[in-house]
Amino acid sequence: MTETYGIHDLSFATSHYVLTHQVLADETGVEVGKYHRGIGQDAMSIAAPDEDIVTMAAAAARPIIDRHGPDDIRTVLLATETSIDQSKSAGVYVSSLLGLPAATRAVELKQACYSGTAALQFALALVHLDPSQRVLVITTDIAKYELGSAGEATQGAAAVAMLVGADPALLRIERPSGLYTADIMDFWRPNYRTAALVDGQASITAYLQAVEGAWKDYTERGGRDVREFTAFCYHQPFTKMAHKGHRHLATCTGLEGSDEELRAAVVPTTHYNRVVGNSYTASMYLGLASLLDHSADLTDAPIAFFSYGSGCVAEFFGGTVVPGYRNHLRTSAHTATLQRRRPIDFARYRELHDRELPRDGGDHEIPRETAAPYRLAGLSHHRRIYESN
Ligand code: CAA
Repeated sequence: MTETYGIHDLSFATSHYVLTHQVLADETGVEVGKYHRGIGQDAMSIAAPDEDIVTMAAAAARPIIDRHGPDDIRTVLLATETSIDQSKSAGVYVSSLLGLPAATRAVELKQACYSGTAALQFALALVHLDPSQRVLVITTDIAKYELGSAGEATQGAAAVAMLVGADPALLRIERPSGLYTADIMDFWRPNYRTAALVDGQASITAYLQAVEGAWKDYTERGGRDVREFTAFCYHQPFTKMAHKGHRHLATCTGLEGSDEELRAAVVPTTHYNRVVGNSYTASMYLGLASLLDHSADLTDAPIAFFSYGSGCVAEFFGGTVVPGYRNHLRTSAHTATLQRRRPIDFARYRELHDRELPRDGGDHEIPRETAAPYRLAGLSHHRRIYESN
């Protein structure tokens, strides 16, 4: 039998707090329909002061290590665009929190929201070289825009951990991939800023151009006919963007269908993102979790993926759902993760938004707030100190 490669297990984590778009609308005076229907968002995850991309990443990966053990993992690829250090990979902190063996490599990857897909493809190449190994791919981000900006309604936070290996239990990743890169400034974050800069409408146009470009390369390389796919999993900065992307793909490819049919191919991927908000690198993989957790049987179904990272790099690829996949899902744990979040009011949200970690190099304890399995306990000599909760 030919060896297949793909996603063997998948688990996500998000933050301790959640802000509903109703609360945001009440405070900003924006008609809530703009959020609920206009951008397709109901709520967004907000990180507690003792949470960051490392604590979320470790929380997402913990159930995977508990189920499969650490022994086959020799590589950790952590994708993020909200990095905490210019030098040290967040993957090293996560490996340590998870108790992975010293005989492991851990690196961090960056290209806006796209780098999780780069990590996945690099992981596939590694397991192809040695099918006895597995790679832990983690996508983890906290999306933050200026208060009062158009982007404010599209914040969020989450991490998705995936175990990548041969003979996967969930999803076989197919070749070819369609690639697209363009040197543009639709969204970026200089090193000295905590909030991103974005040209919102330009970023939507750039995303749609990238759908077209990545699809073109995908078909030129002999990819599937667009009509073969059962569902389409797009990067979701806000869930309406996935529907815009799909309508654009339909126009470019001549994919026929009523509005309702086109929506139906995307809606199952949007349930988690609707209430988590943008999680940058994690967003498309949260979409995959939503699809697997919320659909009727998808056995052998071909699924399309469109990954987009501003700046910009995009990739279109396919995957096939593996028979028996439902025995490996974490649907109830995912639901519990979302239900555990504590709703906050607008004043608390603003306070958390404006909060920055001290930069003086002193010793600072961070009070316990999160109920997550790991927390950022403090700072000492410019070092982050993590602990199990
Ligand atoms: N009821 C229902 N719908 C309403 C409404 C109401 N009362 N009021 C407005 N709307 C609709 C509008 O008609 C519009 O719908 P369409 O796009 O279908 O026309 C929608 O709500 C949004 O309205 P606006 O376009 O006026 O919204 P805006 O300009 O204030 O903000 C945004 C939208 C530009 C996406 C902004 O949220 C933003 O800048 N977000 C960050 C950037 C982003 O997410 N870009 C996406 C592509 S880039 C990417 O994907 C990478 C990444 O992760 C960042």
